[in-house]
Amino acid sequence: MTSLPPDLDPQKIPQHVAVIMDGNGRWATSRGLPRIAGHRQGARTLKELLRCCKNWGIKALTAYAFSTENWQRPIEEVDFLMLLFERMLRRELAQMHQEGVRISLIGDLSALPSSLQTEMEHSMTETLNNQAIHFTVAVNYGSRKEITTACRQIAQLVQQGKLSPEAINESLVEKHLYTADTPAPDLMIRTSAEMRLSNFLLWQMAYTEMYFTDILWPDFDADAFHQALLSYQKRDRRFGQVKTFFSA
Ligand code: FPP
Repeated sequence: MTSLPPDLDPQKIPQHVAVIMDGNGRWATSRGLPRIAGHRQGARTLKELLRCCKNWGIKALTAYAFSTENWQRPIEEVDFLMLLFERMLRRELAQMHQEGVRISLIGDLSALPSSLQTEMEHSMTETLNNQAIHFTVAVNYGSRKEITTACRQIAQLVQQGKLSPEAINESLVEKHLYTADTPAPDLMIRTSAEMRLSNFLLWQMAYTEMYFTDILWPDFDADAFHQALLSYQKRDRRFGQVKTFFSA
């Protein structure tokens, strides 16, 4: 689908969508395939979703690709995922750059294979000034670790006398998160009938609308995304406030 479906209101399109891509393993197993086949298909799904977001006027997409807990998976699966990330970046970079995609990788990237780190650095530098859509992939990401790291950085500034404790506020904390230059997600989608956040963007999603679907990630196509956006557009976002019907 290239243009926005007519039943969606262009004025109420989320600016930033976050996705927890769950169900790759089950998708593959149910077809008698190895789990890695699910990840491979999942990567294609993500590519399609990115294109869909761009065509429908969404300005940012953030995908949870590998958590700090995912290292506990079988070594073959971890190795495959690392290779998949690297291959995707290498193969898709030119096209994404041409389409105006800005790529960011967030997480503790220092623990990743060095060839992958090189590819990540290159993709981020190359696409830094692109404006069409901001595509962020979380790899070796954990929200608690991100917040803890931010606290440590802020504490060091205080210890060095560069910051007073009174100057610590929410906006300062935000500046120390991996997502410093990205507005919070408006909509978070998790596939495969799991209903939890799994340590993903805990600070950033304080007021994000949540959408859960039974669909397994590799099957999450434009129609499924359309349904998620229809649900989002029915929500009444109050950000903790009371809706005012009359103005004074
Ligand atoms: C969760 O499904 C999926 C992952 C941990 C990996 C997600 C990675 C991709 C979709 C590839 C993305 C590619 C790039 C280049 C960013 P699961 O394996 O936990 O599925 P299960 O719950 O059915 O076992």
